Amino acid sequence: MSIVKAEDLLAIDFLNCFELQKLNMMQMYKLSSLGWSSTDKLLEMKEQGLIYILLKAKAFPDPGASEKVVGFISFKATWENEEPVVYCYELQLRSQLRNFGLGRYLLDIIESFGSKSGLPKCMLTVFGHNPAYEFYQRLGYTPTSFSPKPTQLRKRIIPPSYWILEKALS
Ligand SMILES: CC(C)(COP(=O)(O)OP(=O)(O)OC[C@H]1O[C@@H](n2cnc3c(N)ncnc32)[C@H](O)[C@@H]1OP(=O)(O)O)[C@@H](O)C(=O)NCCC(=O)NCCS
Repeated sequence: MSIVKAEDLLAIDFLNCFELQKLNMMQMYKLSSLGWSSTDKLLEMKEQGLIYILLKAKAFPDPGASEKVVGFISFKATWENEEPVVYCYELQLRSQLRNFGLGRYLLDIIESFGSKSGLPKCMLTVFGHNPAYEFYQRLGYTPTSFSPKPTQLRKRIIPPSYWILEKALS
């Protein structure tokens, strides 16, 4: 595991992060009103102040292979709705590494960074149709007062295109 500022990321690590983000998320962006733009995503992923925590591993079964990013979280201390927060920009794991507690572990680290820095909340955005919404709920995240709201139809509730979630840090 390594912790690196966005501007200090090795080009190959940044490329691996981008490829993983694209692999996991491109389809969801395409289904949303945002659409997918590699250029916009590359710019966003290099935004000033972002910090990356990288999980790297050698490709199995080749012991001679070089290490690749297999998961990462990116975040920064910022202001949202006139409040200081730690904002989680990305949390991405390769599919083979999900459901082992790594997502929770990475979020725990940035929450701990937030609380030790005196930031009262952790915030993030998640697509309404992303199953990760339930993961965040499980970890105590709830929609902010200014998050888009679900639509109540006669027989079902349609989630908004995205949620803005928050969790108070102690
Ligand atoms: C979202 C993601 C990071 C979760 O990481 P993970 O390592 O698989 O999650 P964890 O194993 O730490 O799970 C923590 C808890 O959430 C639950 N959980 C995880 N994914 C879930 C899901 N899709 N639906 C419901 N619960 C889920 C786990 O069962 C676990 O519950 P527990 O409290 O009973 O132990 C991972 O699924 C992922 O990379 N998804 C693709 C990228 C993505 O959508 N990222 C979020 C963008 S906003």
